[in-house]
Amino acid sequence: MKLSVIGCGYLGAVHAAAMASIGHEVVGIDVDQRKIDALSKGEAPFFEPGLQEILTEGITSGNLSFTTDMAAAQGAKVHFVGVGTPQQKDGYAADLTYVNAAIDGLLPYLSEGDIVAGKSTVPVGTAALLAERVDPTGATLVWNPEFLREGWAVKDTIDPDRLVAGVPEGPTGERAAGVLREVYHPAIAKGTPFLVMDRATSELVKVSANAFLATKISFINAMAEIAEVTGADVTKLSEAIGYDERIGRQFLKSGIGFGGGCLPKDIRAFSARAEELGRGESVAFLRQVDEINLRRRERAVQLVVEGLGGSAFKKNVTVLGAAFKPHSDDIRDSPALDVAVRLHGLGAWVTVTDPAALDNARRVHPQLNYVEERDEALRGADAVIVVTEWDDYRRELDPSHAGTLVAGKVIVDGRNTLDAGAWRAAGWTYLGMGRP
Ligand code: UGA
Repeated sequence: MKLSVIGCGYLGAVHAAAMASIGHEVVGIDVDQRKIDALSKGEAPFFEPGLQEILTEGITSGNLSFTTDMAAAQGAKVHFVGVGTPQQKDGYAADLTYVNAAIDGLLPYLSEGDIVAGKSTVPVGTAALLAERVDPTGATLVWNPEFLREGWAVKDTIDPDRLVAGVPEGPTGERAAGVLREVYHPAIAKGTPFLVMDRATSELVKVSANAFLATKISFINAMAEIAEVTGADVTKLSEAIGYDERIGRQFLKSGIGFGGGCLPKDIRAFSARAEELGRGESVAFLRQVDEINLRRRERAVQLVVEGLGGSAFKKNVTVLGAAFKPHSDDIRDSPALDVAVRLHGLGAWVTVTDPAALDNARRVHPQLNYVEERDEALRGADAVIVVTEWDDYRRELDPSHAGTLVAGKVIVDGRNTLDAGAWRAAGWTYLGMGRP
């Protein structure tokens, strides 16, 4: 099928390449000429396992092209809209500037029977408003939220755990759902659930999924706070409650909390939208989810200061990690970098290392010292803190070897990812988050 994808950021670039890889003819459109130039050459503009391969494959086969010209969308049967919806600069609500601009730009090129499928995360009610502009062209506006995780984006797009289609009532909606079924045929044939619903529900599915995940993380981090004053171990607690299938083990990893381009801004936008709807109290707990999350960053900083004997001033601190999570070079709202910046603010000499995110980090926080190589970064440290659980900083980091590099054997485990016993046995002062 001929498809267009408007917006070639994380979501759009992966979606375009993934759709080409399952046999569709796809044009990706973005206003950013640099991004389009890179993608056209088959270069992935960010670190995402597997993306490079399907980009090259799509471009070589002729199934995939990129342009800044919106006119290229003409003739596509489905137009996916995957532009960003960042937090507004002066509030918690989502900024819909890019979604509105994408729809306005697309309108002149729509034909009778086309499907416009929104993928961006938007406040509930957005699709209904956009439909008022799309409907007069004879095209149908549907919402088809995306649940991809960074680091697993290609797999999550080609082989998702569920597909959601929010469509208008009646035959127009049924037809639109049918077209999306065709688009996603390979996944559906493998048994992926394809859930058809109204547009408002589909918008809510996305934000409530992210709100639930954020809540789960803050729940375990709240337990870490309680563990800290009782001598309990939150990692044992999490393992033990996680064996209950109703609770589940995933997203119960305690530490410095969640970050990234989605969870933090999505829970805030959800709160703002609920307040607009007069139902602020229904999601008032999300404010606490946010606050618990931010407190953990401060706690990690405190632990470093404690480990250093009460002050970080003029001490060498090595920060292992900058990305908001491993297998990503994304530093948007990264708790890891936030911790590094806070330590710098306390007068520490902060050295940051990360296998993928250093260029991005350097651009945003030039005041920190960046070192490519892990062992080089560890050399001379008075304290070390693990803030992104790359394998290089957990499984592959030997405490005895690390001990030969540093000046002070103090390790703060900001992700509760190290074997405390092994580090202590090697002579280190080990400080975990919610662990004795
Ligand atoms: C998140 C959702 O997981 C995706 O389903 C969703 O599609 C995506 O947002 C989006 O809205 O586009 P992502 O931002 O890639 O995906 O990251 P996650 O894997 O959810 O991790 C978010 C943060 O939570 C990371 O900083 C991670 O380190 C942290 N985390 C995760 C924990 O602190 N503990 C956990 O147990 C799990």
